[in-house]
Amino acid sequence: MKKQITIIANWKMYTSFTQTLTQLTNHFDRLVSLASNKKLTLILAPTLPAIQELAMIFKNTNLTWAAQDCSEHLAGAYTGQISAETLKSIGCGACVIGHSECRKYHGESDETIARKLQVLLDFDISPIICIGEDKEIANTNEIIALLTKQLTPLLKVLTLNRQKINERRIYLAYEPAWAIGNNKTPSHIQIETIYAWLHQFTQKAVPEITIHCLYGGSVSMQTLDFLKKFPHINGFLIGKASLDLQEFEKIVKYIMVENG
Ligand code: PGA
Repeated sequence: MKKQITIIANWKMYTSFTQTLTQLTNHFDRLVSLASNKKLTLILAPTLPAIQELAMIFKNTNLTWAAQDCSEHLAGAYTGQISAETLKSIGCGACVIGHSECRKYHGESDETIARKLQVLLDFDISPIICIGEDKEIANTNEIIALLTKQLTPLLKVLTLNRQKINERRIYLAYEPAWAIGNNKTPSHIQIETIYAWLHQFTQKAVPEITIHCLYGGSVSMQTLDFLKKFPHINGFLIGKASLDLQEFEKIVKYIMVENG
C-alpha cells in the first residue's frame, strides 16, 4: 500500500520577492500537476510577502503555502513579528516552527515554540514542527534526551488541543542541525532508532492524533537513495535542493515513484 507523502520546499531567505514570484509562476503547470497526485501533499514555504499573491495565482490547486515562522503572540506591541491571524488571512495553510536556524539566531526556547504551536492551532494552520540536535550533541548519547526536552512542551499543547485538531495535519520534522546544507546525513542506525522512538513517544503522549513524521537536512538526489528506505519517514523538508524547480520536480517524482 502506498503511503501518504508530504514534501515541503523551504526556500528560507534564498530568493527575493520578485525571483520567487517569477520562478514559481513560470512553473505553474508543472507544480500543479505534481500536486495533483492524491498520495502527495506538496507544501511550499517561500519568502512570506510573496505568499498572498501566489495563493491567488494558484487558487483552486492542491498546493499548500507555508510561512517559515510566526509570532508566539496573538497581537500587540511586537515590532517585526507576524501573527498567525495574518498568516491565515494571506493564504498560509501551514507554518514551520522551531527550525534550528530560528532556534539559533533568535534564541528561541522550547516554551516559545510551544506557544507558537498554540497560536497556529487557534487559527487552524498546520504546524510543521522542527526538532533536532546540533553538532555538539550529535556524537554523544544525549540525542534522545534532547529530543525529549524539545518535544515535551509541544506534546502538552497537542494534548490540550486534541479536541480541536480535527482534520488539520500535524507535521513533525526531525532535522539534525549539523546535517543541514552540507550533504551529510545521520547513519542508518541513528535514523532507525530515532524514528522508532519518535513514533512510540508521540503515540504514547497523544494516541488520538496522527503525527506525520518527516525528515529534513541535505535531502537531494544524492542522499535520497539512502533516505527513502525508512518506513517511518512520511516525507521530507527540503531546503537548498528545492530552489531549482527542475531539480525539485525530479526529486518529488523520484520519491513518489519509489513510494510503494
Ligand atoms: P537543506 O535545508 O535541505 O538545505 O539542508 C533543510 C532545512 O533547513 O529545512
